[in-house]
Amino acid sequence: LGLAACGGDSGGSDDGLVIGFVQVGAESAWRTANSESVRSSAGEDDRIAELKFIDGQQDQAKQLEGMRNLITQRVDAIVLAPVVETGWTEVLEEARDADIPVLLADRSVEQSDEDLYATRLGSDFVEEGRKAGAWVTEEFADADGTAVLELEGTVGSAPANDRKAGFYEVLDGEGFDYDLLDSQSGDFTAEGGKEVMEVFLQSHDPEDVDVLYAHNDEMGLGAIQAMEEAGVEPGEDVRVIIVDGSAAGFQAGADGKVDYIVECNPVFGDQLMDLAVDVVGGEDVDKYVPVEESAYGPDEFADELPNRQY
Ligand code: AHR
Repeated sequence: LGLAACGGDSGGSDDGLVIGFVQVGAESAWRTANSESVRSSAGEDDRIAELKFIDGQQDQAKQLEGMRNLITQRVDAIVLAPVVETGWTEVLEEARDADIPVLLADRSVEQSDEDLYATRLGSDFVEEGRKAGAWVTEEFADADGTAVLELEGTVGSAPANDRKAGFYEVLDGEGFDYDLLDSQSGDFTAEGGKEVMEVFLQSHDPEDVDVLYAHNDEMGLGAIQAMEEAGVEPGEDVRVIIVDGSAAGFQAGADGKVDYIVECNPVFGDQLMDLAVDVVGGEDVDKYVPVEESAYGPDEFADELPNRQY
């Protein structure tokens, strides 16, 4: 379990707050940028004495252990980016019993008692899925049936569940004619995306595939590699949608290998520190605070590339 502190070494609140941050892991460029954003915002914020950073390594058991560690240390607040949506009730109750507020960052939890967390700051993943779906229905509006392959994120995670739900909400809602050839998890990693795409290509003739919907950049980039190794031209033979918007993703777009990028913004450290201070100070905060994001097509890839922060 990775535990590292940044900022001062005070455990008290006179010098500022001690915040615990239970991160998902380091599975993607998005995640690395998110950790960096939170760490640097905490480090530069006079109101924060210390950020105790826990790397959950994409493992809920490690995240639970980290939460309990932070509760024992009596931090002022815990920021949790939950790897999956379920299985948090007990530890959230333990935090509540210890009077330690929990803020959710990035991913959400499936929680019947919403009072167990103070707020969630993160993306609207359903909306991201809708954007991807809307692109498909417009782009293939005149096609006689569209064959889709889907690379899902980590099983049970909010972005995997919601990006899927939003996508098919649009396709089904519009009565769009499509055939889902295959849908499997690549765990949000490049290796996962590559491996699953290799399997897809063994069972489906690329000529029969119209579009690949990858729930994040990493898996999309891994799948692109698998396609190229198999002699398939991504962006040409198979159109590609990715979600995140890293520099590597935009570069692939500028190179003609990606057709549509739905942005998911990881740079919310400053917003998170403001929220944490408000929550600990007993201020009323919204239950959900969205992060601003957009979506980009081929005409924008090259111009937007220099603006990418990660
Ligand atoms: O929860 C956000 C998602 O997690 C990002 O899309 C992905 O890259 C990361 O692994």
